[in-house]
Amino acid sequence: MVSVKTEDEIRRISEASEIVARILNELTLNIKPGMSTEEINTMAEEKLRRHNAMPAFKGYRGYPASICVSINDEIVHGIPSPRRIIKEGDIVSLDFGVKLNGFFGDAAVTVPVSMVSELAVKLLQVTEEALYIGIKEAKVGNRLYDISGAIQNHAESNGFSVVRDFVGHGIGRALHEDPQIPNFGQRGKGIKLERGMVFAVEPMVNAGDYRIKIDQDGWTARTYDGSLSAHFEHTVMVDYEHGVVLSKVN
Ligand code: MF3
Ligand code: CO
Repeated sequence: MVSVKTEDEIRRISEASEIVARILNELTLNIKPGMSTEEINTMAEEKLRRHNAMPAFKGYRGYPASICVSINDEIVHGIPSPRRIIKEGDIVSLDFGVKLNGFFGDAAVTVPVSMVSELAVKLLQVTEEALYIGIKEAKVGNRLYDISGAIQNHAESNGFSVVRDFVGHGIGRALHEDPQIPNFGQRGKGIKLERGMVFAVEPMVNAGDYRIKIDQDGWTARTYDGSLSAHFEHTVMVDYEHGVVLSKVN
């Protein structure tokens, strides 16, 4: 069942989402070559405490950290480690979620570390564009897979592929609610969108093909072919004209 949120629920999801956005912005500005991914997790946790908010991911199905940090060919769910050092030329995906007053917010960005390859620049640009193109479709009068199809079309028409194994999701009182929101699909299909539905829209785009593999740690998802992967995500409310981004700094 896909729920339509009340104004009060939307306010609370927005508050959680704004904290996610603020912290992601700060982390983005602080990423430096030589830093470990564990240091990023520590920074995220310090910032969370100042907002009196809880990490959404820690303990979720046994996930051991507060943020996912996924580098280069890692797609999502990279576990922070003191041994994993960020270097110049890397692209670093930060996926972060917060719980505040019983409601969740969730967002992700992929950050270039100093100079990155031309291909990496294009992959980040196309993936972020795909997110905003999807958000535009999150409007009353559309169906769910209008979002999915628009994202897929933008990624594939630029020569990239969309990951099949992970999807966006409804969000609210739980981190993952109905519906699942694939980043591929047939426009015109799926449920009718209603104002006040709240979705985490999150394209994961690979420079090569869409297949993935999971590391021995049971979490880290990486591209099967070793190609680069990018991830951008916002928590979004369905509205009349277009989706409204809630995971932004007001
Ligand atoms: N942001 C991701 C999602 O929406 C990550 C959650 S998985 C976790 O599904 F285990 F890391 F929490
Ligand atoms: Co998510």
